Amino acid sequence: MDKRATGRNAEPGLSTRAIHHGYDPAEEHGALTPPIFMTSTYAFESAEEGSELFRGERAGYIYGRTRNPTQALLEARLASLEGGEAGLALASGMGAISAALWTLLSAGDGVVIDRILYGNTFAFFTKGLTRFGVDVRLADFTDPQALAHELAAAGKVKIVYFETPANPNLRVIDIARVASLAKSAGALTIVDNTFATPILQNPLNLGADLVVHSATKYLGGHGDLLGGALVGASALIERIRGTGLRALTGATLSPLNAFLILRGLKTLEVRMERHSRLALQIAEQLERHPLVSRVAYPGLKSFPQYELARRQMRQSGGLIAFELKGGVEAGMAFMNGLKLVTRAVSLGDAETLVQHPASMTHATYSADERKRHGISDNLLRLSVGLENVEDLAADIAQALDGLHAAKGRAG
Ligand SMILES: Cc1ncc(COP(=O)(O)O)c(C=O)c1O
Repeated sequence: MDKRATGRNAEPGLSTRAIHHGYDPAEEHGALTPPIFMTSTYAFESAEEGSELFRGERAGYIYGRTRNPTQALLEARLASLEGGEAGLALASGMGAISAALWTLLSAGDGVVIDRILYGNTFAFFTKGLTRFGVDVRLADFTDPQALAHELAAAGKVKIVYFETPANPNLRVIDIARVASLAKSAGALTIVDNTFATPILQNPLNLGADLVVHSATKYLGGHGDLLGGALVGASALIERIRGTGLRALTGATLSPLNAFLILRGLKTLEVRMERHSRLALQIAEQLERHPLVSRVAYPGLKSFPQYELARRQMRQSGGLIAFELKGGVEAGMAFMNGLKLVTRAVSLGDAETLVQHPASMTHATYSADERKRHGISDNLLRLSVGLENVEDLAADIAQALDGLHAAKGRAG
């Protein structure tokens, strides 16, 4: 809250910062809503000023690939929410991941990644970076011994990378534990915080060095844009801006999308509270149903890392992973039987979405990799939206009843 004081001694709360941080209407003609700077380039007052800007002798805007005032406000707000020094807005989550890792890694360097990652992040590491001479190693980060072993076995480990809760099966990883192991090995810890958002957990406060977001999801929150973000120490963020964003990816977030994400942030805390409340109700409904064989939701007492999730996260989030008796066939029939819940990948939207990771978001893992890494072919992933929970519950119940009826007919 550098621009407007609250009159309170404590640091303003998350929603207050999400709504006000870094903006004073008095500086923009009293406009309540920050303007969208739709510009690709910036006029220099003189030729000398332009040269000084390029040499870094003067701060200011040069060209829209690397900096824009609407993005700058978003970057400041995200940094404030995550408890980091600086933020960087990018065109997508994959843009953020690739810009960061291409900046930080060179041929011969090592990385250790968790076994469960979003499908394209997994592909970026195992099918992408490996082509450029990076030593990519996998470990199960829920087992600190396995991680310590890989850290010791690899050569120069620069990065330790994971998601928590992980996509798609919601495994929760102890951020402080992993960050301390990585630190002892001289590696940076990068955490994808997309599922939790800064409302539910702040990895930087637990020892991580860089936080990644797909802003396409909860931060935007309305299923109408793609965006990504990084938050960390200023020097690290400026390195990624100058190399990964400017020269290696050009993955620039449009000013209009920066504006839409700023709008999304204003309701992030309210939305995360409702997503979490509804998801718990739906997870309990699924857990009670005789045709459901397994439910993974960090807020359920049956969740293997329930205690860790409670310690690490403020609430349990909006995603549920579950399996039906009757396997893939039953899963597909259930998805096809839904009327209100929408069959779609992505998550964090107002609409409740369901998808089948093995054939959709995680089809980048081979069948053998999915088996070895513990991504069951039967798994369904539900992103609980913001509708009325009675309607969601009724839709899920009727789709499960449809399976019962089909089973009865077959039997
Ligand atoms: C956890 C996670 N990280 C990163 C990404 C990539 O983000 P984007 O689709 O914005 O490129 C996704 C997309 O689904 C994701 O779920």
